Amino acid sequence: MFSYRSASRSASGRTILPVTANGQTGGFEAIVSHDTYTTGVPWDLFARMREHGSPCWVNETDGAGFWALTRHAHVFHASSTPRDFSCARGIRLEELDEDELEARRTMMEYDGAEHARLRRLVGAGFSRKSIASYEASVRGLAAQVLDRALELGELDFVEEVSRELPIRMLCRILGVPEEDAGELVEWGDALISNADPEFSMAVVDQVDTEEFRLLPFRSPAARAVFDYASHIRKERLRRPTDDIISGMLAEDAGGRPLTELEFQNFFLLLIVAGNETTRHTISHGLLALLDHPEAYETLDAAPGERGLFESATEEILRWTSVTMHFRRTLTRDLDLDGAPLRRGDKAVLWYIAANRDPEAFPEPERFDIRRSPNPHLAFGAGRHVCLGAWLARLEVRVTFEELFRRLRAIELTGPPDRLRSNFIHGVKHLPVRLVPR
Ligand code: HEM
Repeated sequence: MFSYRSASRSASGRTILPVTANGQTGGFEAIVSHDTYTTGVPWDLFARMREHGSPCWVNETDGAGFWALTRHAHVFHASSTPRDFSCARGIRLEELDEDELEARRTMMEYDGAEHARLRRLVGAGFSRKSIASYEASVRGLAAQVLDRALELGELDFVEEVSRELPIRMLCRILGVPEEDAGELVEWGDALISNADPEFSMAVVDQVDTEEFRLLPFRSPAARAVFDYASHIRKERLRRPTDDIISGMLAEDAGGRPLTELEFQNFFLLLIVAGNETTRHTISHGLLALLDHPEAYETLDAAPGERGLFESATEEILRWTSVTMHFRRTLTRDLDLDGAPLRRGDKAVLWYIAANRDPEAFPEPERFDIRRSPNPHLAFGAGRHVCLGAWLARLEVRVTFEELFRRLRAIELTGPPDRLRSNFIHGVKHLPVRLVPR
């Protein structure tokens, strides 16, 4: 294992600045601290890391350290080369022991055939074509949620709008009672926001979460979701329907039926991945539009212009990059643009940095709702590319289409409150005043 390299030139001719490993400081640790993100994304630091050219080594206080991939080309390459960049040792920063990994494994932590088998169980239900058939349903739900919000006038946009729509839609798609949306969203908050004391009593880097180590996100809330999943499983096994969950539980599903634990983890993954991510994209999307009055006015002047709202959605996804990173583990030694990645090293794919890479996006710091092409990596790439990408796109586009149809004016009445997380780029509260047309 190397520990230090002096400045040199890579094969591509880039200058490689000294990057340190194993105890040496590289000065990039701030990207790991949850606290960093309560005041915003460290854009300058990410820009400096991209400018290094090669992946940078980042030390961790409670981990072995990792290679940070911040350039678009590197993140795309790692996502598309699973034989070198494996998911099997986990996809989060934290190191998991073998028993933790086994207890918490979902399709995200498999490579190859097992991943494909699990993904096939739900793939058709989330395909572009299947999701397109929900457009009227999403629109009806968006109208309902927005009409209520407009009646309130002054409100927390996260609480009343962005938090409501994705979970209720997910309930409809999965065939779970919509009355349970409130509980599901609270559990989901406690899980994915496990570094923010507002949502979790078991804040991962502040209290001892050892007793929850076999649960997803080391969170006691996972027990509630597992119990709920078991209840739904029993019901569907007794009375199968034609929904996604019954398909997942079918006797011949992909060769063998899912065990109870596999189903619990799968259900939890869908609830968490399908809910918080889209919520924060809608909230950050609104913030971006308020920060960029020209973009706001362009959409305001063109309600119902689908192509424009589609490209605005892609730009919101790029700009926001809610899932800031996922991790891979090296399966062999390789050189990536000069950086000596070693078998067993962690490589962390920073989508949020890749999405501002000037080599992939002309004027990346410009919020351009007509940007085309827009090869953002907000949904990742390769075999693990987001299962819910078409659903998320539909929900974001339709929410903004319906919002602009109804809105005469909007004003921020307080500063946005940001989530404490190095993983999710989230907005907890967004106080606004809405004036209907
Ligand atoms: C704007 C919203 C969303 C963003 C930014 C997002 C982001 C991502 C990213 C970056 C990945 C790739 C993970 C990797 O390569 O390791 C991913 C995978 C995944 N997403 Fe999403 N996601 C969003 C919405 C959704 C929705 C609505 C669902 C619906 C259930 C969903 C379910 C999943 C699942 C199940 C995976 C794992 C796929 C696999 O391993 O094959 N996501 N998402």
